[in-house]
Amino acid sequence: MNILYVGGGFVGACSAAVSADSGHRTLVYDIDSEKVRKLSTDDRDTIQSCLHEEGLAELLIRNRARLTFTAQLDDVTPFLEDVDAIFMCLPTPEKEGAEGEADLSYYKAAVADLGRFLARRNGGAQSRRLVVVNKSTVPIRMIDHTKELFAEQGIKNFGIVSNPEFLVEGKAIEDSIHPDRVVVGAAAEEDFAIMREVYRRFYDSTNVKYIEVNPYEAACGKLLANYLLFNRVVTTFDVVGRTCEYFPNVAYEAVRKILTADPRIGTWGLYDSLYAGGSCFIKDAASLAHQLEQSGTHAHLIRGILEANVFQRDHFFGRAETEANFSWADKTVGVIGLAFKQDTNDIRNSGAIAIIQQLIGAGAAAVKVYDPAAMGEAKKYFAPEKNELYARIQYLSDERSALAGTEAVIVCTDWPQFKTLGATIAETVRPPYLIMDGRRLLSSQFGDLARAGYDILSVGSPYQPGVRFATAPAAQAAAKI
Ligand SMILES: NC(=O)c1ccc[n+]([C@@H]2O[C@H](COP(=O)([O-])OP(=O)(O)OC[C@H]3O[C@@H](n4cnc5c(N)ncnc54)[C@H](O)[C@@H]3O)[C@@H](O)[C@H]2O)c1
Repeated sequence: MNILYVGGGFVGACSAAVSADSGHRTLVYDIDSEKVRKLSTDDRDTIQSCLHEEGLAELLIRNRARLTFTAQLDDVTPFLEDVDAIFMCLPTPEKEGAEGEADLSYYKAAVADLGRFLARRNGGAQSRRLVVVNKSTVPIRMIDHTKELFAEQGIKNFGIVSNPEFLVEGKAIEDSIHPDRVVVGAAAEEDFAIMREVYRRFYDSTNVKYIEVNPYEAACGKLLANYLLFNRVVTTFDVVGRTCEYFPNVAYEAVRKILTADPRIGTWGLYDSLYAGGSCFIKDAASLAHQLEQSGTHAHLIRGILEANVFQRDHFFGRAETEANFSWADKTVGVIGLAFKQDTNDIRNSGAIAIIQQLIGAGAAAVKVYDPAAMGEAKKYFAPEKNELYARIQYLSDERSALAGTEAVIVCTDWPQFKTLGATIAETVRPPYLIMDGRRLLSSQFGDLARAGYDILSVGSPYQPGVRFATAPAAQAAAKI
């Protein structure tokens, strides 16, 4: 089949790679020419620096014969002549200040770009049926809107399908090759039939739940799934973690063991953290709340969860002053981890990014940062041209150099390599020194670090000041870490 992906970001690029790998002739159109250039190379590191997804580079390179990226509409128009499916993989962020209303301007701009050419296909006869597939996460009634937008452009003989994406960043290729479910929402049998051909590999698979529903159910299922996952992560820190913070001698890890022993509770998301970030959970929950409110009902619980998420980040940051009596003014601080979670270079809504802004706002003299994958994205985000104070951010090549010369460190991202940071801290900086662990990555080392004189402030634990007059010399305790 001939498949066009509009938008070559995390979703578009990963889905297109799998589409080409399934034997389809695949074209990706993205307005970001730099992204197109990077994703079109055969250099693994260049692809990885653009979209840090395990296995993406290999899949793109292996399927080059069937897969093209372009930023030129001129390359797209001939492809539209016999296109079977157009996957809309565009950003649908929250409109600024609109309490959750989705910003559909990217979507509309793409329809305007493609529309006039689509209306002229097959010599104007538009004889070949195509499906427009909403892969972006969109409002529940978006399909009606999509239909109008395409019809306004004079496009005929098309169906609209809702095919939400459930991939998890960091595992996007694995999830796209082995999805647990494929959800296809359509109104006409002929459109279901096209989608079965697109997804032949999954439709025929006994391991994949291939779910055919109506388009509203498909869009709704995606928003509700993200709401439930978001709820789980926020409940974990706002209720479970908070309980452990306020009751001494209640270790978070011990409580987690008790909770996860119950299969009804399960294990997913029961890791304490400073914030539930990323590009999806927050905006999708806000969008659902907005849609419910617009429909005449309330969204108290969703609004409460959104609030609790922001509270957690601010509360964690504020504990330095309120509990450890530590002022950020004029301090040099290390920030370890910038991505919103491990295995990605995505910094959208990352807790670390907000923390860096708070540090600068609180007068920190310098912020020394390190992340294994997200340095490039952070440098773009904190370009000094945007704000001269961003010149206070120093980008280091590893954890050790990000710690050197600092008076406090904040661990923000759960990259596995940071689990051994305790030893690097003990070798690099001397107490008095504040360790803020926003992920409980160092929890097994808290005791030794505190005995060696380091002050520990972690999500899910009461503040633990360092032992200043230890019976054993601090150096001896530090050697054990
Ligand atoms: N990232 C995820 O984990 C994930 C998972 C499931 C669903 N989604 C949803 O999928 C959608 C896309 O998310 P993403 O993370 O891939 O976003 P992204 O920002 O990584 O990618 C979107 C791409 O669209 C391009 N673009 C913008 N306007 C365009 C236009 N007019 N024409 C062509 N290209 C244009 C951008 O340059 C960008 O490369 C969103 O609705 C998101 O909510 C994302």
